[in-house]
Amino acid sequence: MKYKLLGRSGLKVSELCLGTMGFGTESGWGADKESSFAIMEAFGNAGGNFLDTANIYKLGTSEKIIGEFVSSRDRDYWVIATKYSLKDNTTNPNASGNNRKNMMRSVEESLKRLNTDFIDVLYLHIWDDLTPVDEILRGLDDLIRQGKVNYAAISDTPAWIVSKANTLAELMGWSQFIALQVEYSLIQRTPERELLPMAKHYGMTLTPWAPLAGGALTGKYLRGDIGRIKPESNRLNENSARITKEVIAIADKLNVYPSHVALQWTRQQGISSIPIVGATKLSQLEENLKMIDLVLSEEDLRRLDEASKINLGFPGEFFREDGVRLNNFGGFYDKIERR
Ligand SMILES: NC(=O)c1ccc[n+]([C@@H]2O[C@H](COP(=O)([O-])OP(=O)(O)OC[C@H]3O[C@@H](n4cnc5c(N)ncnc54)[C@H](OP(=O)(O)O)[C@@H]3O)[C@@H](O)[C@H]2O)c1
Repeated sequence: MKYKLLGRSGLKVSELCLGTMGFGTESGWGADKESSFAIMEAFGNAGGNFLDTANIYKLGTSEKIIGEFVSSRDRDYWVIATKYSLKDNTTNPNASGNNRKNMMRSVEESLKRLNTDFIDVLYLHIWDDLTPVDEILRGLDDLIRQGKVNYAAISDTPAWIVSKANTLAELMGWSQFIALQVEYSLIQRTPERELLPMAKHYGMTLTPWAPLAGGALTGKYLRGDIGRIKPESNRLNENSARITKEVIAIADKLNVYPSHVALQWTRQQGISSIPIVGATKLSQLEENLKMIDLVLSEEDLRRLDEASKINLGFPGEFFREDGVRLNNFGGFYDKIERR
C-alpha cells in the first residue's frame, strides 16, 4: 500500500479507504463484529489506515465496532473519518441536519461510540439545503480548535455550495474541506459535470463511494447474485449490464478481477482519488486489495470511457464540442499548455 496526502493537508492516508457501512448486522445484512474485526485486521496488515464510517451506519454499530477494534490496538495509527447530519428521529427537529446544534451533539455521540477523544476527519454527510454555510464552517472550525476533530471534509453536496464554503473559509482563516465524498463509478459518472472539476480546483482529494456500484461492477449481478439490491435499481439496468460486461472483458484480458478494473478506473481520472471500498466478507476485501499495482492502459481507459460515457449537459457539453473552443478562441486553444 502506498499513501497519499488528503487534499491540501499533511495527513497521510492509505491509497484505498475501507468503507464500513456494512459493519453490524442491523437491518438484516452486513458483517458481524468478528468478521468486521477480521476485515479491519487484514486491511491494516496490508498497510491500510483509512477507515470510513458515519454516525448513522447501522444505527451507530459501525462506529462502535471500529471503536472497540481501534482502542484495543494503536489508535494513533488509524485515520478515522466519520460523518454527521443524518439521524432517524421523528420527535426532535434538530436531531438531524447540518446545523451547529446537531453537529456538536453528533460529534459527542460519535466520540463515545468510537471510544476516542478525537476524530481524524469529520465529513458533513449530506447537504440539508437549510443551514447557512458560515454556520457550518464556524462549527467545524470550533471543533478543530477544541481538538475534537482534526480535519473537515464534505459529502453529497452541490459543487457551488462547496466552492462557496472553501472560498469563505480561506478568506476567514477557517479550515477548508480537504476531501469530497461522492458516488462515483463507471455506472455513476455524473459527478464529472461539476463536482470533479471543482474538487480538482480546490486541491481536494476525491473519495468515491460505491466505486463498485455496490457490487454490480464485480459482475455478480449478471450471475444472478443480486443480494439486497432492489430490482428497480439503475445498477441492474441494461446500461449497467453493458458497462459491466466491458469491465469483465478487460479484466479477463489482463487476468485480474473485474473489481480491480472498476476500482482502478476511479483512480485514473486526472484527480487525486481514494476509492472507499466496502466489504462485508474478508474474502471480498482480500480480492479487492490485490488491485493495488494495476495500471490501466490508455487503450483500456478509452474502451471503458466509450462504454460508460455520459452527456455532460450544459455547459460541459458545449465546451466539449471541439468547434466552440477551436474556432472561437482565435485558433490558440489547442496550443496552450494547461495548468
Ligand atoms: N457519503 C455517502 O453518502 C455514502 C453512501 C454510501 C456509501 N458510503 C461509503 O462508501 C463505502 C462503500 O460503499 P458501498 O459499500 O455502497 O459500495 P461498493 O464498495 O461499491 O460496494 C461494496 C459491496 O460490494 C460487494 N463486494 C465488494 N467486493 C466484492 C467482491 N470482491 N466480490 C463480490 N462482491 C463484492 C459487497 O456486497 P455484499 O455485501 O452484497 O456482498 C460489498 O458490500 C461504504 O461502506 C461507506 O463507507 C458513503
